[in-house]
Amino acid sequence: MNILVLGGGAREHSICYAVKKSKKCNNLFCIPGNAGISEVAICKKIDLKKKKEIFNFCKKNRINLVIIGPEQYLEDGVSDYLKSKQISVFGPSKKASKLETSKSFAKKFLIRNKINTAKYKEFKSYVSARKYISSIEFPIVIKADGLASGKGVMICKNEPEAENALSIIMKKKKFGLAGNKIIIEEFLTGFEVSYFAFFDKNSFIKLGYALDHKRAYDDDKGPNTGGMGCFFPSKKMTKEIEEEIFKKILLPTSLGLKNEKLIYRGILFFGLMITKEGPYVIEYNVRFGDPECQILLRNLKTDLLTIMESNLQDKLSNINIKTDNKAVICVVLASNGYPGNFKKNKILKNLNKVKSLKGIKIFHAATSIKNGNIVSSGGRVLSITSKAKSINSARKMAYEALNKIGWEGGFFRNDIGLKNT
Ligand SMILES: Nc1ncnc2c1ncn2[C@@H]1O[C@H](COP(=O)(O)OP(=O)(O)O)[C@@H](O)[C@H]1O
Ligand SMILES: [Mg+2]
Repeated sequence: MNILVLGGGAREHSICYAVKKSKKCNNLFCIPGNAGISEVAICKKIDLKKKKEIFNFCKKNRINLVIIGPEQYLEDGVSDYLKSKQISVFGPSKKASKLETSKSFAKKFLIRNKINTAKYKEFKSYVSARKYISSIEFPIVIKADGLASGKGVMICKNEPEAENALSIIMKKKKFGLAGNKIIIEEFLTGFEVSYFAFFDKNSFIKLGYALDHKRAYDDDKGPNTGGMGCFFPSKKMTKEIEEEIFKKILLPTSLGLKNEKLIYRGILFFGLMITKEGPYVIEYNVRFGDPECQILLRNLKTDLLTIMESNLQDKLSNINIKTDNKAVICVVLASNGYPGNFKKNKILKNLNKVKSLKGIKIFHAATSIKNGNIVSSGGRVLSITSKAKSINSARKMAYEALNKIGWEGGFFRNDIGLKNT
């Protein structure tokens, strides 16, 4: 098969790595890709808004399957467009993607299907939202309804913070149309898990879970980021909790999709809060999460293309997903200043030395090649994933690798996988 992966982050690099391992993979392409991806796939720069050009690229290169990484392309309808041109796409329809692209849509789906989620109210006007926050207890969580690159959620400890959040989203329109509607929900306590399963028209099958670290600095200090690392397994995730997730979250989601005739084909990510009362859904994501994808795919033993083919044919019930139950951790190397302002084009050396270390893989997130050097081109630059018998060994390996890279242009968290294990 000839495969095209859309996207250019570490998630897409890890997808390319998994696809390349498949005996079914003939030629592998990636748009736009990055410096690391270009070592495994033929990368091409095409503006992903130009759907027709992507279609032409597919025709020219006899692409048999397109795998979409980022949510934005799903919202933009790239998946629907290519499917309408008879190209096989791994990535749900624009309609089903609303489970992620509208938090209000997801909330209503969860409530209709009696799936545990934080109590909430939604507002379209600043005035009524402002009035509401003067009558409630804190903390609360305020969320822009639409996609906001992971920045549209604010946890507010008091009324002035909430007023500020409302003003940013609804008056200053920081997230544009995504903030035309907001939801205000109760604050849940517990621990968070990213849980993944493939869903088709008839059934679903678990892929696995990961625990991630969203804050920029050690001990969960500093601002929220796209994710600074993650790990598997966690001692907190007992068999009982996994069973509850199956019964209270996965099963009713699958039944809800069927009852509502919302056909979902693809990977579904459940952002869960495991509370004292059991698992609650914080959100759905309609694609692989990043960085979680990187460790899930490192533990995946079943051929990814076989899973995707079965998924698209609604034959998930025929397959068995086998995973290595090894400990895997992923540590993100980010540019100094991230998630705020940072410099680009900083040279990364020593990557070749690290690449060959046993149990280590480097997935590039934002790199490019300039004058023969690999340079940074974004906030999260690359990540190290390491696989071992225990989290402690995996941690040791990952940090040795990062110290060998010794990049002065950036930083990483030192405590990935340290707690919660
Ligand atoms: N109701 C809630 N209670 C506690 N924390 C929450 C709640 N909703 C969101 N969060 C926190 O905010 C983060 C981002 O929220 P989420 O709904 O996943 O939005 P997004 O990923 O689109 O930015 C979550 O991972 C979680 O840490
Ligand atoms: Mg989230």
